[in-house]
Amino acid sequence: MYYFTSDYTTGCTPEILEVLGATNLEETSGYGEDAYCEAARALIQKECGRPDADVYFMMAGTQTNLTIISASLRPFHGVYGTARSHINTHEAGAIERSGHKVLVVPDEDGKITAAQIVAEQEKYLHDPSREHIVMPKMVYISQPTETGTLYSKKELEDLYAVCKQYNLYLFIDGARLGYGLTSPACDFTMQDIANNCDVFYIGGTKCGMLFGEAAVVLNPAIKEDFIPLMKQCGSVLAKGRLLGIQFEAMFTNGLYYRICKQGIDTAMQIKAVLKECGFEFLTDSPTNQQFIIITKEMYEKINSHFKLGLYENLPDGRVAARICTSWSTSQDAVDKLCKFIKEL
Ligand SMILES: Cc1ncc(COP(=O)(O)O)c(C=O)c1O
Repeated sequence: MYYFTSDYTTGCTPEILEVLGATNLEETSGYGEDAYCEAARALIQKECGRPDADVYFMMAGTQTNLTIISASLRPFHGVYGTARSHINTHEAGAIERSGHKVLVVPDEDGKITAAQIVAEQEKYLHDPSREHIVMPKMVYISQPTETGTLYSKKELEDLYAVCKQYNLYLFIDGARLGYGLTSPACDFTMQDIANNCDVFYIGGTKCGMLFGEAAVVLNPAIKEDFIPLMKQCGSVLAKGRLLGIQFEAMFTNGLYYRICKQGIDTAMQIKAVLKECGFEFLTDSPTNQQFIIITKEMYEKINSHFKLGLYENLPDGRVAARICTSWSTSQDAVDKLCKFIKEL
């Protein structure tokens, strides 16, 4: 059976396993205060062109979202996100549990636009009961989005300009950033990301690491007391060096980009065959997640040979199925899936 359900179906890239093995018995300080974390932080600051950035390593995506959002906001603050955003759908209310409302804005191709934020903020600012309602303080987006689409550099710049205008933080969830940066549609760099938000994170778990996310905090207001706030969220790993070792490997000699490119190359081959066969897509995704709209019967048929993700049940009875590739998707798996689709 081949798995196209997600980009975390396998362990990690062999380069990481090798360095984890080689350093296994070495003794270091705990809680990220070791030389590997130090080196990884410096490499990430360099990659971002931001020596002023504070870099913190955490274990998982939901944990990083929860930590960043709760560390950034005061008790009465809320965070804008799309209806399909990860914080609004698949985090079991973790953000609300921290006391912060997710302020849902309609989804435009998986994205929030600068114009939407202007409209929402004008509505809020002109509400006569403004002081009685949740105050928006942050915009949460993911790059790539939940449905695989990408913000262009211009869209990010426009959104960040509007956030600054309204005194809102812009937070970019980069759980799959590697697949955005290696997409043929990508017109931005890691530096563009770092220069167009207040805080973001570089995903490792879905991009070839065993686990790990690197939060890059740029706005001094969010940097304050970040470590005790992380600690309160259970986000400080005692064996923190495991995160430093993995991120150091990822940002040495371009490993992060090299391996994520495999996820993109394989997804683009599958997308081309799906298009050729006339499949309907939920979005026009240039990244490693492709969403097709099919009948339940068709879903079951494909799924009995190749595991797909069931993303959404649609009102007309059909489903949106997710085909997700990764750094470890083999050419053999792609060839077999493409052959199966063509024969359907
Ligand atoms: C964009 C995005 N952010 C965060 C997460 C959460 O990651 P985790 O499952 O590691 O908590 C996911 C998981 O799929 C995701 O797609």
